Amino acid sequence: MPCRSWNRGYVKRKVAGLNEVYLQVANQIPDDIEAKINPAACISCHTGSTKIPEAKNILLTSGELAPMLPHKEQLQNNISCLDCHQNMGHSKTTQT
Ligand code: HEC
Ligand code: HEC
Repeated sequence: MPCRSWNRGYVKRKVAGLNEVYLQVANQIPDDIEAKINPAACISCHTGSTKIPEAKNILLTSGELAPMLPHKEQLQNNISCLDCHQNMGHSKTTQT
C-alpha cells in the first residue's frame, strides 16, 4: 500500500517533468528552424511536383504554372520562402 502511493506520486512527477521538457523544447525552437525546414517542403511542391501538378512551378518564367515573379534569385541565394510568403493560402508546414 505505501509502495503504491509512492509510485503514484512518482508517476505524477514524471508526467509533470515531461510536460516541462516539452514546453522547454517548444519554446526554444529558434525562429530560423522554420526557415531551414520549410523551403525544402515548399520547393518540393513548387518546382514541378509530379504528385501535385497544380502547384505553381517557381522554376518557370512563363506559362500557366509560372509565378508572377521569377524566383531564380530566391532559389540560388537560398532565401527563406517565408521572408516573403507569410500568408499563403495554405499552412506554412502544409503537407496536404
Ligand atoms: C523576395 C521575396 C520572395 C521570396 C524570398 C520568395 N517569393 Fe515567391 N513570390 C514572391 C512574389 C512577389 C510573388 C508574386 C506575387 C504573388 O503571387 O504573391 C511570388 C509568387 C510565388 C508563387 C506563385 C503564386 C501565384 O499564385 O502565382 C509561388 C508558388 C511562390 N512564390 C513560391 C515561393 C517559394 C516556394 C519560395 C521559396 C523557395 C518563394 N516563393 C520565395 C516573392 C518571393
Ligand atoms: C504539398 C504541396 C505544397 C507545399 C509543401 C507547399 N505548397 Fe504552396 N501551394 C500548393 C498548391 C497546390 C497551391 C495552389 C496552386 C498554386 O497557386 O500554386 C499552392 C499555392 C501557393 C502560393 C500561391 C497562393 C497563395 O495563397 O498565395 C504560394 C505563394 C505558395 N503556395 C507558397 C508556398 C510556400 C512558401 C511553401 C512553403 C512554406 C509552400 N507553398 C508549400 C502546394 C504546396
